[in-house]
Amino acid sequence: MSNSSYHSFTTRSVQIGVGRDEQTGGISFPIYPSATYRHPGVGQSTGYDYTRSGNPTRDVLEEALAELEGGARGLAFSSGMAALTTLFLHFSSGDQLLVSEDLYGGTYRVLDQVFAKFGLQAAYVDTTAQAAIEAALTPQTRALLVETPGNPLLGVADIRSLAELCRSNDILLIVDNTFLTPALQRPLELGADVVVHSATKYLGGHSDLCAGALVTREAELGERLYFLQNSTGAILPPQDSWLLIRSLKTLPLRMARHSASALQVARWLQQQPQVEKVYYPGLQEHPGHELARQQASGFGGMLSFRLSDPQLAEQVLEDLQLISFAESLGGVETLITLPAVQTHGDIPAAELERLGICNCLLRLSVGLEEPADLIADLQQALTRFSRRVVHG
Ligand SMILES: Cc1ncc(COP(=O)(O)O)c(C=O)c1O
Repeated sequence: MSNSSYHSFTTRSVQIGVGRDEQTGGISFPIYPSATYRHPGVGQSTGYDYTRSGNPTRDVLEEALAELEGGARGLAFSSGMAALTTLFLHFSSGDQLLVSEDLYGGTYRVLDQVFAKFGLQAAYVDTTAQAAIEAALTPQTRALLVETPGNPLLGVADIRSLAELCRSNDILLIVDNTFLTPALQRPLELGADVVVHSATKYLGGHSDLCAGALVTREAELGERLYFLQNSTGAILPPQDSWLLIRSLKTLPLRMARHSASALQVARWLQQQPQVEKVYYPGLQEHPGHELARQQASGFGGMLSFRLSDPQLAEQVLEDLQLISFAESLGGVETLITLPAVQTHGDIPAAELERLGICNCLLRLSVGLEEPADLIADLQQALTRFSRRVVHG
């Protein structure tokens, strides 16, 4: 990759791996499937010994991830949960993590049902409200984990001021950057210590890859996390590393289009009588709009909307034809989710109700299809239900 800092983000993305295959000059960096490597002699190494500890294809990917996020060290994992799990292993029994309450249900599940058993405590806070975080801090707090925009309600947290708060309390700021990616938001440049990704989503971008990533601002923390990854083994295999390199080359183009289309769909949804509320930071009415403008260069492709009744939500999911009712997000194809039942199904019902994640709330990952076609599909599903109600 051209690491010239004067090159634009798009150019650097496209150039990932170019010039790295010195032997053949291959523009596409090759896949090195070898699990192990011949030693030239005792006590000697080519730089590679065993693929869990290091692999040339994964190295190119990890360097690119670090470069794009503006960090010192990137690590590629077999899933976003593998990345988060490895990160949580950095902490000890008795430590406490403060975590966004508007977050991916799987992160809640691993903290609540796995790490709690080992004495790592998690407390959930509204990370869009700094006072709530300050009130939740205890002497045991070691890190603040923020998803911004939140999932599925798209609340926006102020990364720069949270970084200051964390620094003055000597705790780590971890940002899950899955929704915006470094093409739109670079938390490490705003003062965060670690960025997490489900690379299954926008980084991979084609619904054909399960991967995760961690990027650290400081090399020392990166080295510690590398130690944990190598010790526990959740590495991204070489074939998938190559696929992720290929995806990253088009990341900025995809994110720009996801953002433009999501804004168009959000504005249209706002005008529909069956839609009670649209959650999208790109809308001026969104409480985090100004902040999102300041700390990110785009609003991304994720939006949620609340319909007037749960029966309508269920029917819309059945009646959509172009848009797929499916888990996940961030692919070129538009997907719709019922978070209360799917992605957030492990969060207790009372907590979901308190947060406003009801059976009327649908989350849309706006893909790269023509926005007019997406709108037409939503329209036919919404009006089909209305007609059914009218005709009894
Ligand atoms: C914001 C966020 N973080 C982490 C994860 C976990 O990633 P993975 O599914 O790749 O394990 C997800 C998955 O949906 C997610 O949406």
